[in-house]
Amino acid sequence: MEKDVCLCAGERLSDDVPAGGQARLTKLVKNAGCASKIPPADLQRVLSRLPAITDPRLLVGSATADDAGVFQTSADLCLVQTVDVFTPSVDDPYTFGRIAAYNSLSDVYAMGGRPITALSIIGYPIHTLGDDWMYQMIKGGMDALQEAEVILVGGHSINDEEIKFGFAVTGVIDPKAVITNSGAQPGDVLILTKPIGTGVIAFAAQMGRAGEEAQRAAAASMTALNRAASEVMVKMGAHACTDVTGFGLLGHLYQMVRESRVGAEIWWNSIPLLEGTADYASNGMVSGAAERNREYAAEIVEAADDVPEYALDILYDPQTSGGLLFSVPGETLDEVLAELSAAGCAEAAVIGRISDDSRGRILVTNHPTQVNQGRRKKRPNAAPVAERQGHEPQQTVPAEQEPCCEGGTLHETDVSAESAFQRFMSTALGPGALDVIQKELTTIALSVAIQCEPCLKLHLKKALSMGITTEEIQEAAWMGVAFGGCKAMMFWNEQSRLLETISSEAASNK
Ligand code: CO
Ligand code: CO
Ligand code: CO
Repeated sequence: MEKDVCLCAGERLSDDVPAGGQARLTKLVKNAGCASKIPPADLQRVLSRLPAITDPRLLVGSATADDAGVFQTSADLCLVQTVDVFTPSVDDPYTFGRIAAYNSLSDVYAMGGRPITALSIIGYPIHTLGDDWMYQMIKGGMDALQEAEVILVGGHSINDEEIKFGFAVTGVIDPKAVITNSGAQPGDVLILTKPIGTGVIAFAAQMGRAGEEAQRAAAASMTALNRAASEVMVKMGAHACTDVTGFGLLGHLYQMVRESRVGAEIWWNSIPLLEGTADYASNGMVSGAAERNREYAAEIVEAADDVPEYALDILYDPQTSGGLLFSVPGETLDEVLAELSAAGCAEAAVIGRISDDSRGRILVTNHPTQVNQGRRKKRPNAAPVAERQGHEPQQTVPAEQEPCCEGGTLHETDVSAESAFQRFMSTALGPGALDVIQKELTTIALSVAIQCEPCLKLHLKKALSMGITTEEIQEAAWMGVAFGGCKAMMFWNEQSRLLETISSEAASNK
């Protein structure tokens, strides 16, 4: 308990040292990075009530869930326009500024366009945080724009409680060269140009559980420009493209599959992952936004039996400044991968294929042979054995492990019992007849009833990140008190401070 670990929720002790000694931007916000987006199902409910915009010059509007709007200004020129604003996904303000710019530019690259100008949008608590971080953020953004040869033409600022930053970007493209998310065809293969895991790592960092190496790898991935990948995909005649951001790999693939009226097959053992992602996700480090993405796309996703539950958590993980996901004719695959590797996209991989499934399903399965083996560059400190077995997390148990709840029976060396217990936990906690919100509220009631402090802390954080209100949490906690009796009431009276602290971290934390 002292170590703030919830073994009941499948967490394990680790000796990862949280990055210290520098600004902890991610601690100041409820939802880090693209996880701060409004959940897709909620967004769709609102957008569907608004009138459709039709104009012959609007080649790509908001109706098709594409990355950017495309507006034709003359016979051979279109504007490609997009805006992206989000909360900090890393702790360093300069790096966050760069990531915000890369992320915004990415939507223009995903359409095959060339970004030329940008406007900045910043929300910042200037009176509580002082101006240096704001300077760092904007400087980071400007440096990234300069790298992309994009001119910053102005911006807008809001004195806000929570830090937010992003850009509206304008690009240009030939009307005949526009690549949308609706052109995927059966026989195409799916290419992903960056590894997955930025959301899992950001959430683990918020819980003080992410290793420094993993955070560095995530930051490096988020600050890699999608320009070179975009040039390759245009040159190789991609049929469809999108960038992988807030809705996660499966959420964005869902949009591509739906708009293209096709199906798809994804190979879990071929998905490139950022270091630490499998470990953290299999230990419950999954943000509430991933659960909301699952809610959005789950109706068309089917997973094979040998695909572990946490794999889906990762495939729904919201990405910040993720890679491009594009479909190209199968016969061009070798050439595309060679071009990507020459362009510096060392981790680009073929991760699946487009099928002619008339029901528009996405099947998640393991490819019988590892298609990317030997193609993918070895990452330092990656666990090669784990990768070959399809991202099995390492099952090492530190010596000082002790169960956090009364009656726990785990033994230091009983690795298989622990992993079996974790599998059971993820099945029990996964969505079923109860939706993810109901399940999350249940975990809070139970954490209070059994008086498990680490469980409660993790689930309060997760519930708030899913958009559950403090009133709903209070009500669930009192259910726990009702069944846990006097001891549970004493426990909740003490612990309800935790709820206030977590929900008002932005205001109280400097
Ligand atoms: Co996008
Ligand atoms: Co966007
Ligand atoms: Co203004």
